[in-house]
Amino acid sequence: MHSFDVVVVGAGAAGLFCAGIAGQRGLKVLLIDHADKLAEKIRISGGGRCNFTNREVTPANFISGNPHYCRSALARYMPAHFIELVQRHGIAFHEKHRGQLFCDDSAEQIIRMLLAECGAGGVERWQPCSVAAVRQAGSGFELDTSRGPVQAARVVVATGGLPVPKIGATDWGLRLAQQFGHRVVAPRPALVPLTFDPQAWAPFAALAGLSLEVAIETGEGKKNTTRFVEDLLFTHRGLSGPGVLQISSYWQPGTEIRVALAHANLADTLRQAKGRTQRQLGNELALHLPERLAQTWLALQDLPASKPMPDVRDKDIAKLVDSLARWALVPTGTEGWRKAEVMAGGVDTRDLDSQSMGSKLVPGLHFIGEVVDVTGWLGGYNFHWAWASAAACAQGL
Ligand code: FDA
Repeated sequence: MHSFDVVVVGAGAAGLFCAGIAGQRGLKVLLIDHADKLAEKIRISGGGRCNFTNREVTPANFISGNPHYCRSALARYMPAHFIELVQRHGIAFHEKHRGQLFCDDSAEQIIRMLLAECGAGGVERWQPCSVAAVRQAGSGFELDTSRGPVQAARVVVATGGLPVPKIGATDWGLRLAQQFGHRVVAPRPALVPLTFDPQAWAPFAALAGLSLEVAIETGEGKKNTTRFVEDLLFTHRGLSGPGVLQISSYWQPGTEIRVALAHANLADTLRQAKGRTQRQLGNELALHLPERLAQTWLALQDLPASKPMPDVRDKDIAKLVDSLARWALVPTGTEGWRKAEVMAGGVDTRDLDSQSMGSKLVPGLHFIGEVVDVTGWLGGYNFHWAWASAAACAQGL
């Protein structure tokens, strides 16, 4: 029987980072992953350049049944810490948009960095290797793995979320949590494109590929409404783009989303244009919106695109701008796990300790990264949670 201080299951972002720190603290660490290839999610992230953190990370950038759970880990492991590590490994990076940091070259550099940190900690890695069972034994655990039985004082579960099953995502971590009596917040796809009834969507399908900045919101009442100002992308089946991905994490099935494709003050601008130009309504609107959207929208509102501006009625302008500024629609679903970037829900934080990420029910069992009910916004926040929760856990092992 092999014996280790710590077995980390899942060699993705959180597992690799945790194993490296724990190893460098002098612990004998085994890192296990069932996938053939290492850290595929890091490799495909950020379009291959890995948006590895964000300059500004606060608890407000995360969704969880307990919004306070992530506070301690985020306060102890900040973006500056990870940036310092990246710089120490000579990885060049740049800021793309709203504090989002990407590798200049390739996400592979982050994987190599994490492997080097594991190497510095003498971490042993078994991959591919699967774990059939985990049992409590004495004050620790016994694991049945495809490479034989293993004893460990502590087990860290870092098996991630359910998105992109074809590259190794499983619900193993959630099932293990339940096996040991932990509650699980029902998992659902997040940061995911939204879909609509095909018939109702037909008039918009022709807009596929068109993108524009919008304000997008969901929820009822001021306190429960979440709003983002980001790009929206029309697709053949519905809506995508950063703004839609962000709002999808807050959207509840059966409820509406509201999109402002234009600002309400466009009505004043169009009314003023009546006295200034003979331009046709369609051409005038196309000065403020992408042309394809302008034409489609006028047709949907039954307004003549060819009417000269002086002849357009004020009430038609009001109707048009109102429909653009408050486009309310009810998605029928999402593109699901195949297209989701992250899992909302997961191991219920009520059963975990926010200092060590350890179970309150089973001493020595820890959960880190996406398997936990902490879900970040788009923009490097999910990797930052992987790093911060891994660091908090490794310090406490
Ligand atoms: P992660 O998924 O990284 O690792 C889990 C590991 O556990 C995997 O290696 C898996 O093989 C292994 N595993 C699963 N089940 C197992 C089992 N039964 N036995 C053994 N091993 C098992 N985030 C961000 O901040 N910036 C970005 O740019 C992106 N981009 C991005 C693009 C795409 C396409 C996706 C799908 C996701 C992103 N993300 C992202 C999200 C980010 O990738 C994700 O939140 C982190 O990888 C989560 O880290 P974890 O270590 O928790 O899971």
